[in-house]
Amino acid sequence: MNPYKILIIDDDIAVCSSLQLLLRKHNFTTLTIQHPSLIQEKIATFAPDLILLDMNFTIDTSGKQGLKALSNILSLRPDQLIILMTGWATVQLAVEGMKLGAKDFIAKPWDNQSLVASIKDILTLFLPQENSNEAVASESNIIGQSTTITDLLEIATKVAITDANVLITGESGTGKELLAEYIHTNSKRHHHPFIKVNLGGISESLFESEMFGHRKGAFTDAFSDRIGRFEKADKGTIFLDEIAELNPSSQVKLLRVLQEKTYEVLGSSDVSRSDFRTISATNQDIPSLIHLGQFREDLFYRINLIHLHIPSLRERKEDIPLLIHTFIRKIASAYGFDTPTISDKAIHWLTQQNYPGNIRQLKNIVERTLLLNIGKEILDIQDFEKNFNVQSPSQSMILLPEVGKISLIDLEIEMIKKALLHNDHSISKTAISLGITRSSLYRRLEKYQIAHES
Ligand SMILES: Nc1ncnc2c1ncn2[C@@H]1O[C@H](COP(=O)(O)OP(=O)(O)OP(=O)(O)O)[C@@H](O)[C@H]1O
Ligand SMILES: [Mg+2]
Repeated sequence: MNPYKILIIDDDIAVCSSLQLLLRKHNFTTLTIQHPSLIQEKIATFAPDLILLDMNFTIDTSGKQGLKALSNILSLRPDQLIILMTGWATVQLAVEGMKLGAKDFIAKPWDNQSLVASIKDILTLFLPQENSNEAVASESNIIGQSTTITDLLEIATKVAITDANVLITGESGTGKELLAEYIHTNSKRHHHPFIKVNLGGISESLFESEMFGHRKGAFTDAFSDRIGRFEKADKGTIFLDEIAELNPSSQVKLLRVLQEKTYEVLGSSDVSRSDFRTISATNQDIPSLIHLGQFREDLFYRINLIHLHIPSLRERKEDIPLLIHTFIRKIASAYGFDTPTISDKAIHWLTQQNYPGNIRQLKNIVERTLLLNIGKEILDIQDFEKNFNVQSPSQSMILLPEVGKISLIDLEIEMIKKALLHNDHSISKTAISLGITRSSLYRRLEKYQIAHES
């Protein structure tokens, strides 16, 4: 038996009764009211666990009535869980509502399945669960003993079992992708695909074909059908990496799919539906991008029901020794040699260093040091020191081709290809080794049409 009570506030009787029917089918106890003036009294007597609040009362189409109702409710009961309902045209209103403290918003006409999923997720996430079976996490690849990391993993485990959209932030190399994989692995979707998309690498013109797919002949270069990422992610999780890099026109298209879970394959007039869960990641501060007008606020609220921030390595230096020991053990066993010992001084020294590239950088240093010292029993400060700031070669050391033999552009292309090969086609590593950001690497790959795996 479902113990939860839901109050439906909408001035359209038809909407009220169809919502009531739907929620009763899912064993919720429901009550409907059609006029905001009754809110106070009904909340007091019914004590709902969650409120579905329509933002567009017909008495005043500006939506002010809805916002007023919302702030009234929250002033009476600051912890009240509220989901807003609003027309697509007035998503901005929902954004205002989220700022005031609503937990989620649903665009009308709503999709029954998503609405019920959202209600259940919000109840699981924000209400203390009676005799809740503490979520049991699968073994994690995320190493860390600092309270920041253990707390983060605890929340991530709890969030994983829901379908809530998660935004993961943190500097480059802090483990955002690792955490996204962890959430997927611990979710009920783990038997289905985890589809990773680097949004920084998708140009405006390719967005729809990449994400929604296309039919043969949909445009000049569409020689065959292509399955889009959302279709691939059906029943699974889609990981939207570098979401802050997405251009404005694609942002609005993305918002629409996230909202409606439907899209049109290019060259087809059918509406396709995909059941996916969204995890996004960025190393940028989205609120300041919103401020600069570079990121849509409504999209931000859509992706960010749960926000997980991974602190930089310098904020949790106490994790460094454990990370080093674990990396050494793993690398030695992967390459099949004995695990060397690291002197205490070396550990201490390594803990004192700065890692702008965070865990990725630490891992690279440990790996490089180990591989250059196979057979050595004890690794000391100087062994690591040598691999710490692998200097970029001084200009005089670079052997350049003779003047006139190669153009600057060709030289750039060759260097990019060389770096890709050297880094096993890892975009992040290639970008780091070339001293450019990943998005500018992607721009060049696209500009020069260099083949790459994204
Ligand atoms: N807590 C951790 N324990 C073990 N390994 C970690 C941890 N965090 C990150 N790593 C490792 O560090 C590397 C970088 O992690 P990941 O790719 O997840 O970072 P990211 O935050 O997505 O970086 P970027 O912003 O550059 O994409 C990976 O090899 C990952 O396995
Ligand atoms: Mg990443």
